[in-house]
Amino acid sequence: MNVLEISKLKVGETRSSRLDETPPKLSQAEKDALVQQYHPDYIKEAYGTIRVGMNKGEQTVHRVVSLLEGESPLASESIRLEAKQQVDVLIIGGGGAGSMAALAAKASGASVLMTTKLRLGDSNTVMAEGGMQVAVSPEDSPVRHFLDSLRGGQMANDKILLKTLVEEGPSVVKWLIDNGVMFDREEDGNLSLRPGGGSSKARLVRCKDYTGLELMRVLKDCVLNEQIEVLEYMPVLELLTDEAGGCSGAILKNLDTNQHFVVQAKTVIIATGGIGRLHIQGFPTSNHYGATGDGLPLSYRAGAKLTLQDTFQYHPTGAVFPEAMAGILVTEAIRSVGAHLLNVNGDRFIGEMETRDAVASAIIRECAEGRGVETPSGRKGVWLDMPLVDTLNGAGTLEDRFPNMVKQFSRYEIDITKEPVLIYPTLHYQNGGVEVDVDGESGVNNLFVAGEASGGLHGRNRLMGNSLLDIMVYGKRAGEAAAKRATSTEYKSITLQHLDRFHEAQKEAGVIPDTVSPILFPDYVNKS
Ligand code: FUM
Repeated sequence: MNVLEISKLKVGETRSSRLDETPPKLSQAEKDALVQQYHPDYIKEAYGTIRVGMNKGEQTVHRVVSLLEGESPLASESIRLEAKQQVDVLIIGGGGAGSMAALAAKASGASVLMTTKLRLGDSNTVMAEGGMQVAVSPEDSPVRHFLDSLRGGQMANDKILLKTLVEEGPSVVKWLIDNGVMFDREEDGNLSLRPGGGSSKARLVRCKDYTGLELMRVLKDCVLNEQIEVLEYMPVLELLTDEAGGCSGAILKNLDTNQHFVVQAKTVIIATGGIGRLHIQGFPTSNHYGATGDGLPLSYRAGAKLTLQDTFQYHPTGAVFPEAMAGILVTEAIRSVGAHLLNVNGDRFIGEMETRDAVASAIIRECAEGRGVETPSGRKGVWLDMPLVDTLNGAGTLEDRFPNMVKQFSRYEIDITKEPVLIYPTLHYQNGGVEVDVDGESGVNNLFVAGEASGGLHGRNRLMGNSLLDIMVYGKRAGEAAAKRATSTEYKSITLQHLDRFHEAQKEAGVIPDTVSPILFPDYVNKS
């Protein structure tokens, strides 16, 4: 037997003796030290200084520096700035935040156009598994939700954004139920709630382990029922700005014809999602194929400011074996119903329900200090004791509550009801993004940003389930605010003057861009 097989046997052998064991408990000081020593956000060499734009002089990872300082895909093309379509609200992105924004803008009386790089619904929203945090139980309150999220976010959250999120959560759940989302329920009919890491109460509403998929199913139906116009396979290459520097539309590219399509809009909402497919610091990712952070360079070149652009979430439990599953999310909810994390010796090394920054750091530490398990392809990981879930909660729990997990591993002949799985942190979420106010408006007039492309709400570490709530609350707020703005705004001139200014700044700073951004598709795509 090899080391991996011996170690795997230990997981089964120690299971019953671990049942009453309490995991190592960390003081806040120990937790801070752990995160600062092992979390990838603290690896100095991974970071560089942004030399142009609103965040000039600040730091982020090299990949994002390149993206922000990147060359526009239009730099070498001559474009006729003639609008093919005019609309009150142009929404860039077809995931949860974009769909919610579109529905809200339409309900507020605006004309709406959605454009999306892939298909309507192709997004990180559909990848969300474990649930949505919302304070609906009688033992809970928005105040508790606020305090948990603030602590989880290393106290760096924008307090007004967070207050609004937790207060508007319950109405969002009602809206989703009214529109057909099938949340899991208890036998008495009440919503079934489970805890998330770093939360003092069980407040995750969920649809088994495919919550985002179910939300998106309903949002997509609503968009289609409302007959909102959606342009698919039409990513945005550049925003348009007016003479005063406000946003006035966008230049899209039709991926079927390679033609440009110019849209003049009174307001624009960026809802392009996250950045996982840039594989920051070489990490695998749980993110959707289209998650290449397109909204960041688009809004940055137009003059928006970013916040917390130096912080990323590495979800503790990404699959690490088999190789074909590397990076795929193993929902935190598995730990919330009791699964233990174990090193090569079969020892627990962290409280499984600590916040993600701490759990990910502890896993990285175990592997760095030789207590990880090596996979046949040379990756390192630790065990997540899946069968313990059935031991603790009754046979059939995994099949019943985590059918997506059971199915995904079964494709590779791994039966998670019988075997532990190997996991390692996976790049999951962009904690920061475009700085926005409570209506989602950026520093650029008439440019709104919603969902993962925006920053501030989650501080330096988002709690599980707060992103699904974010896309709903802030998608809606941005949609309503943009529609309202459109009623008092005329169509403005459409120019690329912001690009001239950006080129000037690049020249002044001696920046020679090494990337064309937005990059639209991950680097491993054969573009020829
Ligand atoms: O583990 C999870 O199910 C992830 C949820 C989230 O990031 O919100």
